[in-house]
Amino acid sequence: MVGYADRATLEDLVGGAAALVCLLTERIDEALFARAPALRIVANVAVGVDNIDLAAAARRGILVANTPDVLTEATADLAFALLLAAARRLGEAERLVRAGAWTGFSPTQLLGVDVWQKRLGLVGFGRIGRAIARRARGFDMTVLVHTPRPLADGEADRLGVTALPLAELCATSDFVVLACPLTPATRGMIGAAELALMAETAILVNTARGAVVDEDALVRALAAGRPGGAGLDVFSAEPAIHPGLLASPRVVLAPHIGSATLGARGRMSALAASAVAEVLAGRTPANLVAAAPQGAPTARGAPAP
Ligand code: DGY
Repeated sequence: MVGYADRATLEDLVGGAAALVCLLTERIDEALFARAPALRIVANVAVGVDNIDLAAAARRGILVANTPDVLTEATADLAFALLLAAARRLGEAERLVRAGAWTGFSPTQLLGVDVWQKRLGLVGFGRIGRAIARRARGFDMTVLVHTPRPLADGEADRLGVTALPLAELCATSDFVVLACPLTPATRGMIGAAELALMAETAILVNTARGAVVDEDALVRALAAGRPGGAGLDVFSAEPAIHPGLLASPRVVLAPHIGSATLGARGRMSALAASAVAEVLAGRTPANLVAAAPQGAPTARGAPAP
């Protein structure tokens, strides 16, 4: 077993490796596979697998595992934390207090928006989306969902949600929360057109992947006052953050900590390690990722994870 730090080191080390445990920050692609003739399993310590070329892995017969389930509730908690923080302007409030600029209670200071009984629009209704919907019930919210796979018969009624096309969801939600995987179909899915449909008081929350949102369009939309705010845990060029987002006071920013609890990260590590142990012992782990059509990942937010 060896550890590694950067791409060059990784490329040097994979040569004789039968198994690779990696993070979402590592690009696992054809060029890497070409240097790893003995590789049998890639275990991503993440549920999202957009960092891995699944089609290339499938062509070479390399299995790919991810970490579904074990981070669902932690990620849903963070989505709701960002929703509440953006709704109640907690980032601005904290900066004001820390700057020593609070001069006392004011009835009109830092007015936010209500969450109770508002409309939550979920883009993606897999495990994480469903966990966010469960939290929304505690706030007596109306839950709207946009999902590429139609819900099963009676499922919408059973779960108390309404399925809508994306444009209608954006136009009618007080909070649009992204909980979908990054795939060719979802890349840039929230762009200028979708943002322009959102209300001036609406809030966009992203705990999925940064590239699901056109960040240039989001910066322009926020400057134009629509949507009114955002809570973002993920960015398209992490760890770099669009300067327009950094400069926008109504955006609450987090450094990709959706699954960052002691419990979730411990379970993720154990699940990735167990996938490697299973494969090396000649067994099939339960957390294998299927190579999707056109090489599109299926994990995170889609019904499968
Ligand atoms: C994942 O597992 O895909 C998350 O983004 C990690 O926090």
